[in-house]
Amino acid sequence: MAGSREQWNTKAGFLLAAVGSAVGLGNMWRFSYMTAEGGGAAFVALYLGFTAVVGLPIMLAELTLGRGSGRSPIGALAHFASGRAGGDAWKGLGIVFVAAGFLILSYYGVIAGWTVRYAGEALLGFGADPGAHFGEISAGWDAFGFHLAFMAATVAIVYGGVGAGIERVSLVAMPALFLLVIGIAVYAATLDGSTAGYEYYLNADFANVLSTKVMVDAAGQAFFSLSLGMGAMLTYASYLGRDNDLPSESLIIAASDFGVAFVAGLMVFPLIFALGLQGDVGDSTIGALFVALPKAFASMGFAGRVVGFLFFLALVFGALTSAISLLEVLVSAGMDGFGWERARSAVVMGAAVTALGGASAWSTDILGVIDAVALNLFLVGGGLALAVFVGWVMRDPVAEAGSGSRWGRFWLACWRNLLRFAVPAVLVWVLANGVPPTLQSVADLLGGS
Ligand code: PHE
Repeated sequence: MAGSREQWNTKAGFLLAAVGSAVGLGNMWRFSYMTAEGGGAAFVALYLGFTAVVGLPIMLAELTLGRGSGRSPIGALAHFASGRAGGDAWKGLGIVFVAAGFLILSYYGVIAGWTVRYAGEALLGFGADPGAHFGEISAGWDAFGFHLAFMAATVAIVYGGVGAGIERVSLVAMPALFLLVIGIAVYAATLDGSTAGYEYYLNADFANVLSTKVMVDAAGQAFFSLSLGMGAMLTYASYLGRDNDLPSESLIIAASDFGVAFVAGLMVFPLIFALGLQGDVGDSTIGALFVALPKAFASMGFAGRVVGFLFFLALVFGALTSAISLLEVLVSAGMDGFGWERARSAVVMGAAVTALGGASAWSTDILGVIDAVALNLFLVGGGLALAVFVGWVMRDPVAEAGSGSRWGRFWLACWRNLLRFAVPAVLVWVLANGVPPTLQSVADLLGGS
């Protein structure tokens, strides 16, 4: 089985695909509105802290499990759990990962559909009332139609395979995204009044931020943005050879992910503040980016059309390279678990997850609740289970992670101790505080209030 497994063509191809998985709507759409909601720089600092202390160790744990087993999540856990405490029960965690992939991709495709639509609308020029417009198109048949189109593209790429599909697209889309994001951030700096945006974004107001809710949000955001806690990174690493330096690659992926989120803030906040739209930031919700920015672009004339198009194009690229990693988790599970061929798995899984997305396309309230459940329960819970598994259950993770690496045993032992103690302690706290309000939001939704 392992012998015939697909492989990445190049190291750079794997890295760009993994960075492509991490960098996506989470870095631009979600990061901006969470930062606005969490009060600016202090939220960013917390999110950076979670990325470094919790995200990075779990990233290396996922890459280690994937490469070491050469299997998709369920098989990878079965492989390393065999003969260890818990044994086959750990397969259940792999099944939870696949379920998380279904949930996340289902609403991710809907938001990605909005970005596709907005890229086109930007070229034609945004209309007078972006708030009302977003209300009309964000839910219903329109939303489903664009979701469907986006998912069709995602399926087509994954259908092409690891090297010829995922890697090829990442090699083009990711460099393009970097250039676009940096270019727009530089452009935003030239606008009159942009300083107010930097002040808002870069001034830390810690007094405001040390609330439980903001800490829980920052943790969920870190998991989502790094694609952790559901086996996406694990799956990508399962197509690697033995000679990759996994600790270094984890660092590169996490640093790139934070870097793009940070620069995305440098484009979004100056744009919004330069055009006097800070009011739209205050009552930020899922739709913030899709309301405030079109207003900004609409008031910028021709330049607004060009910059608006490029902005949403960057979002589309980010969304696509993330969505293919989500779908790949499901597709590889179908291939390893049911013995399906790639083509069949891509079509069946793609169709199932697209249909499930109908719920999120139906109502943004449903979308928001699925997002909260996926992050606060599935990703954070999945991350905790991964830390316990690699820290306590797996045999000699240090040797497995360190193979091919220039990092010495000392650093890898630190990593293992983080997974054993600090990471679980932090995540238990996050779960204890994040799960009750999340379950409440589910109850409210079902109760119709
Ligand atoms: N990291 C992606 C983003 O920021 C989303 C994602 C989550 C992708 C989980 C894969 C797995 O947009």
